[in-house]
Amino acid sequence: MSAADRVTASLNTYRALPKVELHRHLEGSLRLDTMLDVAQQHGITIPADVLRLSTLVQIQEEDKFTFQNFLGKFNTLRLFYRSPDVIHRITREAVEDAAKDNVKYMELRFTPVALSRAERFPLHDVMDWVISSAQEASKEQDVIVKLIVSVNRHESAEIAEQVAWLAADHIKDGIVGMDLAGNEADFPSQPFYGIFKEAKQAGLHITIHAGEWGPGYNVREAIEEIGAERIGHGVRVLDDESIVALARERQTAFEVCITSNYQSGVFESLETHPLMEMYDAGLNVTINSDDPSISRITLSHEYYTACEDLKMPQSALKQRIVAAAQAAFIGETEKEKLVKRLEKDLKL
Ligand code: ADE
Ligand code: ZN
Repeated sequence: MSAADRVTASLNTYRALPKVELHRHLEGSLRLDTMLDVAQQHGITIPADVLRLSTLVQIQEEDKFTFQNFLGKFNTLRLFYRSPDVIHRITREAVEDAAKDNVKYMELRFTPVALSRAERFPLHDVMDWVISSAQEASKEQDVIVKLIVSVNRHESAEIAEQVAWLAADHIKDGIVGMDLAGNEADFPSQPFYGIFKEAKQAGLHITIHAGEWGPGYNVREAIEEIGAERIGHGVRVLDDESIVALARERQTAFEVCITSNYQSGVFESLETHPLMEMYDAGLNVTINSDDPSISRITLSHEYYTACEDLKMPQSALKQRIVAAAQAAFIGETEKEKLVKRLEKDLKL
């Protein structure tokens, strides 16, 4: 068997595993073919071939791996949200792509402000469109889908408050949580403390991007000041043993996204990613994709990278898949059913 065959055979091993995704952005999940279609239909002037479009919306080997370049891809992606149909389509396709990768449970996060901006769609309409398409696609595919609303740090507190209230109104429709995302290096989370507190009181679960492009201290802030139950990335938690102890004590789940961290310049190489250090420190790590289209990956690739490159034992990976289900933003009965099904399918 050639080396290439071994890789293929091995990736298939991870493809076959039932998966849990806690951290995937809708806006980072668009298919290239769909973007070309939409560009044609709506007269958007972008390069008409897949390869040239890819340089604008996906990380390339020759790109400088910085968070500014990574976030820059969203500027082009924002051009595509031109009609309700487009938003329905990208949501449906994101669910289909997850199902094809054998994801059995997914919390898909979306940024209502980003989706509404190009055409000034009302936020409540955007939310309705994403909800209805996610529900419909989830019924047709073998994947449970819940939604998380995301607000970027550079947005105003007023907008975040609107998003929080709209999301709280739709808890019954599968919106389970609220997230703070975007440029952590330059925008503090302090302006959003009160809003996240209200969102939590209204019944939404809280996850915060922290300790990714900002210091480990932001993980403590997210847990203690914002009420985060889970942390997006949080890989810089290892900066400070007292924060590691806090997160371990609370069993805060870390939504780790290996390739995204590498491509956005958090670590110089895949090999220096601290997934295993976090795991060995007793932190509740889970493995996620972040922006699969921008990173040109699937969740199966991330599982492969965790085990083959970072040397997580496969038994530990299986246990982390169940841990992700246990950290899901769903009620106890639904969670028990999901965990049981995974344990059976993973032969645990
Ligand atoms: N939005 C999309 N991907 C993100 C990331 N990795 N960090 C912060 N905000 C994001
Ligand atoms: Zn993210």
